[in-house]
Amino acid sequence: MKKYILGLGLFFILQLTCAQGTLSNEAARNMEITQKVDSVLSLMTLPEKIGQMNQYNGFWEVTGPTPKDGDAARKYEHLKAGLVGSMLNVRGTEEVEKLQKIVVEETRLGIPLIIGFDLMHGYKTISPIPLAEAASWDLDAIGNSAAVAAEEAAASGINWTFAPMIDISRDARWGRVMEGAGEDPYLGSKIAYARVKGFQGDDLAATNTIAACAKHFAGYGFSESGRDYNTVDVGTSTLYNTIFPPFMAAIDADVKTIMNSFNELNGIPATGNGFLQRSVLKEEWKFKGFVVSDWGSINEMINHGYAKDGKQAAELAVNAGSDMDMESYHYVKYLEGLVDSGAVDEALVNDAVKRILRVKFELGLFDDPFKYCDREREKQLIGSKKNMDAVLDMAKKSIVLLKNEGGLLPLQKSGLKIGLIGPLADDKDSPLGSWRLAADDNSAVSVLEGLKAYPGNAITHKQGVALTLEKPSFILETKINTTDRSGFEEAVQAARNQDVVIMVLGEHGFQTGEGRSRVSLDLPGLQQELLEAVYKVNKNIVLVLMNGRPLAINWADTNVPAIVEAWHLGTQSGHAIAQVLYGDYNPSGKLPMTFPKNVGQVPIYYNFKNTGRPTIPAPDLVFWSHYTDMDNDPLYPFGHGLSYSKFKYGDLKLSENRLIGEGKMEVSFTLTNIGKYEGKEVVQCYLRDLVASVTRPVKELKDFKMVSLKPGESREVIFTLDKSSLAFYSANNKWETEPGDFKVFVGGSSKTVLEGDFSYER
Ligand code: BGC
Repeated sequence: MKKYILGLGLFFILQLTCAQGTLSNEAARNMEITQKVDSVLSLMTLPEKIGQMNQYNGFWEVTGPTPKDGDAARKYEHLKAGLVGSMLNVRGTEEVEKLQKIVVEETRLGIPLIIGFDLMHGYKTISPIPLAEAASWDLDAIGNSAAVAAEEAAASGINWTFAPMIDISRDARWGRVMEGAGEDPYLGSKIAYARVKGFQGDDLAATNTIAACAKHFAGYGFSESGRDYNTVDVGTSTLYNTIFPPFMAAIDADVKTIMNSFNELNGIPATGNGFLQRSVLKEEWKFKGFVVSDWGSINEMINHGYAKDGKQAAELAVNAGSDMDMESYHYVKYLEGLVDSGAVDEALVNDAVKRILRVKFELGLFDDPFKYCDREREKQLIGSKKNMDAVLDMAKKSIVLLKNEGGLLPLQKSGLKIGLIGPLADDKDSPLGSWRLAADDNSAVSVLEGLKAYPGNAITHKQGVALTLEKPSFILETKINTTDRSGFEEAVQAARNQDVVIMVLGEHGFQTGEGRSRVSLDLPGLQQELLEAVYKVNKNIVLVLMNGRPLAINWADTNVPAIVEAWHLGTQSGHAIAQVLYGDYNPSGKLPMTFPKNVGQVPIYYNFKNTGRPTIPAPDLVFWSHYTDMDNDPLYPFGHGLSYSKFKYGDLKLSENRLIGEGKMEVSFTLTNIGKYEGKEVVQCYLRDLVASVTRPVKELKDFKMVSLKPGESREVIFTLDKSSLAFYSANNKWETEPGDFKVFVGGSSKTVLEGDFSYER
């Protein structure tokens, strides 16, 4: 206790000497923090500084006995010696308190730990996976979802999350697409901003906000052939125009930390990449927070063939701007020697430590290291009605109606005989998705439970087939059933003579996420067979898909009348799905990622380049950019999503056909609800820059709005564009707007319906 008091006393003195009048504005507060950081740094020995740059994974039941040998014992000793600045995967007030107590009471300076955790989609109350949330296009709801996760985790001792994941990806084979916002840099940037703000709030020192971490910097979503951790090789234009924008938006939102990535980028591992971390992030973008490595990524530079051993890996990483070492142990082992030998300038260590201390000060950890450990709040918040309501709201907004023919949906609430079939229909675990480390297993509301909340219809439920062979987990391969069809017959019998059959098929939550790349985008296992077998006896099928990536569901699209994309929607999954099926919530989600017809089309995305041979020159000629065995079109384009209402777009007007200099231009049109239900439509505005110094995509999303209309109601919608909407990273290696001709498109998906022309002059 003595040392902790000494440590705290020191900070109080610092506070007194540093407080410059009232902290009335941000600049004063910044200055005050800078002074405090400098004062603390001046007290630190080199090993203590290096300790701040060292992060360990949680290692033993902190509440249990003190570890005596092995890795855990070493970590424990390091904690007591002031050689650890952060822990991850430690959670719960009791555990966090114990750890924090060790560092504040037993180390010389008592510098508190920053406690990190992956809140990709919630803490204990699980929200929809991020790809699903992105499908809502509802930035307020997405921000709120992050805020709910932050508040719940913050009450449980956590003050830093490794989220949001903002990697743009065009490859559905990559399992981590479930963690991101999809394929589009504009939508991805808006969502990155909303999520960072949601986690961090307006006051980072408040006890319901935590530091965010934008990841993975950079290019991780472009791993070759969609295989996780694989090589990334992209050109300047893709890097700047597609991969960087969400990170720029996160920095705009004042994100406190950034995580680098496992991949190499154009021959240099991101972790040792000075261009990415120093030149771009810290110099060009003036990022003030700190960079944490990805798990063991400093060490992995040896496998990449970039460092010969751990010592060189540490040298390369710190020189390139990786401030904190997650679980490689190389900084704590080698950095002191590297500084002593002159291989690493101590100024770089100082810079890293200052960045880390700054975030700790901003979180208020120096004022009260235990502020995030509040047992009462922890009890009240976790699983609270308020949080359940928030994730239910988010889940409904995330659902995308892919197809609805013959008026099968919404279902009437009474008098129907419903068959409910499929391995995911009564699954209470899979909807929790992949990153739900703190959630209780089997804590989601299943579709069966959700439907039972509507007692007016008779439900016959049969699983039909098992999807997995063993209970899936976060760390092991999910074993898929490919042989056991024993439940088929019973399911087919149950499907006969029903008015409607709801089939709940897709991927298990642990089939997507880290390390879960797939070469097939089909329904896994025997589900396609089951679907076709049921279809033979009853064609009135509503297919409810649960999945973490776009799937190739061509057969279903051709044959099944109604398809609902329900992703992995989290704790309240079943209620959200039932409310959509019964029309108590009119779906408004739109796909944030293109659905291919066939995995061979991947990477497939709406903002592709035209190529030199975009169209067939004459019947049957082969010399154009196409496949010989399938067309180029996706099954469902980016931005696609239906409603129980129907929307008509018309009357496009451009306020100018020449946009000049700093001027503005309005693109207006009339949206009419020609359906029977009140509904919401996400209206989308795209541009095409016809000729530029580097080729531009055939369409680029530039704005969107959510418009609610009653049946028969019309509204004029206006998008305002200016030269910033036309800017891109040009052949001159800078962001600029080039003069020339443009097309503007408007519609309810990237397959837009209205089109106009204009030019831009400087
Ligand atoms: C992942 C990161 C994650 C980290 C800590 C890594 O394997 O790539 O996204 O934040 O583990 O859990």
